[in-house]
Amino acid sequence: WYESSVNDYTFLHPVLGLVVAAFTHLYSSMLAIVLCTKVTFKMSYIAWVHFYPTVKQQQTCDGCGEQGLNGDLIISYDVQRENEFGDIQKGDGYFVHHFAPSRLPRISKNVVFVIDRSGSMSGTKIEQTRTALLQILSDLAEEDFFGLITFDSEIFYWKKELVPATSDNVEKAKVFARNIRDRGATDINAALLEGAKMLTKYPREGSASILILLTDGDPTSETIQANVRRAIAGKFPLYCLGFGFDVSFEFLQKLSLTNNGVARRIYEDADADLQLKGFYEEVATPLLTDVTMIYEGGTNLTQTNFSQYYNGSEIVVAGQILDNEVDNFIPQVVAISVRNKVNFSKASHHPDPIENVPDSVLERVWAYLTVKQLLEQELLVSGSEKEKVKKRALELSLKYNFVTPLTSMVVTKPQEEDTEVLHKPQEGKPQQDHLRYGLQSEQTRIHDKGQN
Ligand SMILES: *[C@@H]1O[C@H](CO)[C@@H](O)[C@H](O)[C@H]1NC(C)=O
Ligand SMILES: *[C@@H]1O[C@H](CO)[C@@H](O)[C@H](O)[C@H]1NC(C)=O
Ligand SMILES: *[C@@H]1O[C@H](CO)[C@@H](O)[C@H](O)[C@H]1NC(C)=O
Ligand SMILES: *[C@@H]1O[C@H](CO)[C@@H](O)[C@H](O)[C@H]1NC(C)=O
Repeated sequence: WYESSVNDYTFLHPVLGLVVAAFTHLYSSMLAIVLCTKVTFKMSYIAWVHFYPTVKQQQTCDGCGEQGLNGDLIISYDVQRENEFGDIQKGDGYFVHHFAPSRLPRISKNVVFVIDRSGSMSGTKIEQTRTALLQILSDLAEEDFFGLITFDSEIFYWKKELVPATSDNVEKAKVFARNIRDRGATDINAALLEGAKMLTKYPREGSASILILLTDGDPTSETIQANVRRAIAGKFPLYCLGFGFDVSFEFLQKLSLTNNGVARRIYEDADADLQLKGFYEEVATPLLTDVTMIYEGGTNLTQTNFSQYYNGSEIVVAGQILDNEVDNFIPQVVAISVRNKVNFSKASHHPDPIENVPDSVLERVWAYLTVKQLLEQELLVSGSEKEKVKKRALELSLKYNFVTPLTSMVVTKPQEEDTEVLHKPQEGKPQQDHLRYGLQSEQTRIHDKGQN
């Protein structure tokens, strides 16, 4: 239930206006809910989002049952991109840099889709995959190159090598896509290695290569991770889309994180084809590759190297400013655009756009990003290193009150003695796995989960 709850979210960035609230698992009927979402701009850079659907609205939307809404509240927003270098906020020893240039030429891409067609994909999943793929193929630009691989226990190619996305090739690929049928067992390993081979064989300078895996299966062998890492060798990102809840999502997360990508869960719902297409759109327009964010005079930085940057996305880096000496702090971004090295730095006449962000907010953003990255790192390491990373993540979560897989929130109800302990939703349960940001009030405390 989200009964009469009011959620306020603060953006640190100039907000372009439209803010859309949506719950995962809910689709078209969300309009009804969005109507009661009110956005007011108090200060020019802060937007408050109030969300309070009535009990009745929660029961009558498509996909809501007797229990009302259940899931994560996702707020999508766009930002003003006036300045290609982005905005840097500084205060009390911390900085946060939002980098989201958009006036750059698009880079053509080489994309290989590796699609699971094993027996478990049968029915709606495979149908929706076909639907999404047909639309994605239509959206490829002529200068893109693409490849299609489907797999069960065997591997099937549409073509053995990447082909340009001419209208003729796209039409032929659509015939292949329409005929994807489910059968057999799952061999993710062999299929991914083939995909990586196809991309590696045709390295085209000045383009961005992307490998996309769609599967609902469990890994068939322990050695996949090492094999795939070796085959990709840091040359391009691997994105893993896990379909449904049977999938071993942690495995897909590890697989993509070790290869500069991300894993995304596709919910088995009426709109799964839109989710697939939505993911593709996020990576559809690469603008930069080999992005290195450099902060002279900065320390304890969050991630600074990004293999690709896509139009419509945003790179956020936070860190501390050494001895809070703002004058010695020189940020710059170096990257490759098409074939050229480009260098972004702050125009000296350009004033810092935001003066009034409360200092503690920057520190919290830094802590939030750091915890998130520590938790990702924790997935990838083992032994004493794992314990060390976990300990650091726990310390920061407790210090800054974040609900993470390592902590739980204890809520003391007003006027009553009883307390309620909220754990973070477990993976594999129908709730999305996200870090909760900034829950804090007199009635809530964040505890070390190990001690509950
Ligand atoms: C990137 O996005 C912006 C804003 O939507 C758009 O104006 C621009 O044309 C896009 N760039 C490319 C290369 O598609
Ligand atoms: C980085 O953060 C840690 C923990 O907050 C702190 O002990 C350390 O001094 C910081 N490093 C620098 C160079 O400021
Ligand atoms: C980031 O990239 C730069 C230049 O490409 C490289 O020198 C540096 O080692 C990289 N850092 C990390 C943490 O990978
Ligand atoms: C980027 O450009 C600035 C100003 O032109 C220059 O001082 C700096 O050395 C350049 N950085 C790199 C890494 O090329």
